[in-house]
Amino acid sequence: MNRPVPVPPLADVLRVALAELVDGLPPRQAGRAVERLIGHYRGDTPTDAPILRDRADVVAYAAYRMPATFAAVRSALDAFADAVPGWAPGSHVDVGGGTGAATWAVGDTWAGPRQVTVLDWAEPALALGREIAAAHPALRDVRWQRSRIGAALTVEDTDLVTVSYVLNELTSADRAALVDAAASAARAVVIVEAGTPDGYARVIEARDRLVAAGFHVAAPCPHSAACPIVPGTDWCHFAARVSRSSLHRQVKGGSLAYEDEKFSYVAATRLPVSPAPSRVVRHPLIRKGQVLLDLCEPDEQLRRRTVTKRHGDLYKAARDAVWGDAWPDAANPPTE
Ligand SMILES: C[S@@+](CC[C@H](N)C(=O)[O-])C[C@H]1O[C@@H](n2cnc3c(N)ncnc32)[C@H](O)[C@@H]1O
Repeated sequence: MNRPVPVPPLADVLRVALAELVDGLPPRQAGRAVERLIGHYRGDTPTDAPILRDRADVVAYAAYRMPATFAAVRSALDAFADAVPGWAPGSHVDVGGGTGAATWAVGDTWAGPRQVTVLDWAEPALALGREIAAAHPALRDVRWQRSRIGAALTVEDTDLVTVSYVLNELTSADRAALVDAAASAARAVVIVEAGTPDGYARVIEARDRLVAAGFHVAAPCPHSAACPIVPGTDWCHFAARVSRSSLHRQVKGGSLAYEDEKFSYVAATRLPVSPAPSRVVRHPLIRKGQVLLDLCEPDEQLRRRTVTKRHGDLYKAARDAVWGDAWPDAANPPTE
């Protein structure tokens, strides 16, 4: 009798595939390609031609940035999946998908099968994405299509659209066109940006458009009303831990085995949704006998709650809570 061959988790396969990609490069060449890429990303964006122009650029991107963008999207999808229990996308379009980080993250979050399409204007990114995806059976049938984001963008009807680390490269008009195209094509839209004040501002702009189009916010917010952060005073972001590759150490120096990728995100949907009751929006502060939690709460307020030993199981939960977690019970602990 033929036993089914176990399929390894996508995250593990991706790690190995990207490590092999780096191993195939002469170290100095890889370092130079990454530095050129970092230079491009520091420059003025948006651009009117792709930043990822050739194979050296896309290999550098995949080796240097893809583990981090994968981790950020994976983390956003986890929070989204918690808000739509029992649902899994049967189809997925990744807009500005580049080398395919979000397709790996979606495959790692929900078992397939599903139809997946990656749209991007950079042919070398699509070609490398296809090559890397050959490492996992779940991604071998992904369609890699050249497409320019702009007023003429059309997205086929799909369960899920992801847009990860793309809004930053677009004009304001193209950002609006992209979010509107996603909202009319998809039942769920997940947008991830860098966890900077500007990244957060782009996420909020997209969130407002999605809500205006009739979507409900599933994560990270506990509600679909306006974000309580006063613009310019703070920004909502989270962190995903990423193992550093030898290439990272070569380019950035130091010996840390990991780094934290900061990201902002919104996951919104037309599906019935149960958002987190509250969200932990900073690292919890652990004091003797108490934990201070900064929470975004369902009544559209940000509050610091103090959870003490008196709260029993809730205190144990607070000790285990980490930045970005859903927090189950905002009503019980008194405010500070
Ligand atoms: C920073 S990369 C992100 C890639 C991938 N989504 C990820 O998370 O790793 C930005 C991607 O957006 C694509 N992009 C930027 N502007 C675009 C446009 N106007 N039309 C299509 N793709 C675009 C780039 O080619 C690139 O692949």
